[in-house]
Amino acid sequence: MRDPPVPTSLQATKINHIERREPKDFLMIEDLELTYVEAPPTAEKYNYLRQTIGWGGYADLADVARGLQATLFCVSVYQAGEIVAMGRVVGDGVLVFYIQDVIVLPEYQKRGIGTQIMNRIMAYIDAHAVHNTYVGLMSAIGKEAFYDKFGFTRRPTDNLGCGMTLVVGCLRRV
Ligand SMILES: CC(C)(COP(=O)(O)OP(=O)(O)OC[C@H]1O[C@@H](n2cnc3c(N)ncnc32)[C@H](O)[C@@H]1OP(=O)(O)O)[C@@H](O)C(=O)NCCC(=O)NCCS
Repeated sequence: MRDPPVPTSLQATKINHIERREPKDFLMIEDLELTYVEAPPTAEKYNYLRQTIGWGGYADLADVARGLQATLFCVSVYQAGEIVAMGRVVGDGVLVFYIQDVIVLPEYQKRGIGTQIMNRIMAYIDAHAVHNTYVGLMSAIGKEAFYDKFGFTRRPTDNLGCGMTLVVGCLRRV
């Protein structure tokens, strides 16, 4: 299993800056006859998406199902019953949200699907956030521009440190 790409962090400091792009900016995605479902995919489909883009799946499907069940909000995109994309939100549902697993299969990329997923995610967060709610995500390398337009700040800045992550299996106590 390959390790996920090393992320750079992008975090929106204020919920008030949510920006959306109009799907009409993009070419004819309706030609694909996509179905957007606001629910997580099955554990198998989730693993399939992650494996296809090189992040690797998880060994135990029951673990995956438990994790997906705890998702706050998820958009899954299907074509003819087959999963082609997803994105989800985890967090406490009020004060802190993290955007996770935004994935579009390579052959479906650059058609506006990722933007549609993010628009739905940002609408969900907008509807549940309070003043100063914190929204975070870890961008894959080279995907920062995709998130810039939704109002996220690239870290580090003069005032904010870099994002940090840890994959369990590498846990250390000092
Ligand atoms: C990042 C990712 C989710 C974006 O999904 P996507 O469906 O390609 O996103 P969109 O099509 O909405 O936008 C991607 C780009 O294509 C452009 N685009 C959209 N429709 C287009 C079209 N019809 N013709 C040409 N370009 C188009 C957009 O302007 C956008 O450019 P930008 O990123 O410079 O702003 C996708 O690349 C992906 O799954 N990558 C692998 C996993 C990953 O890295 N996920 C992010 C982890 S944080």
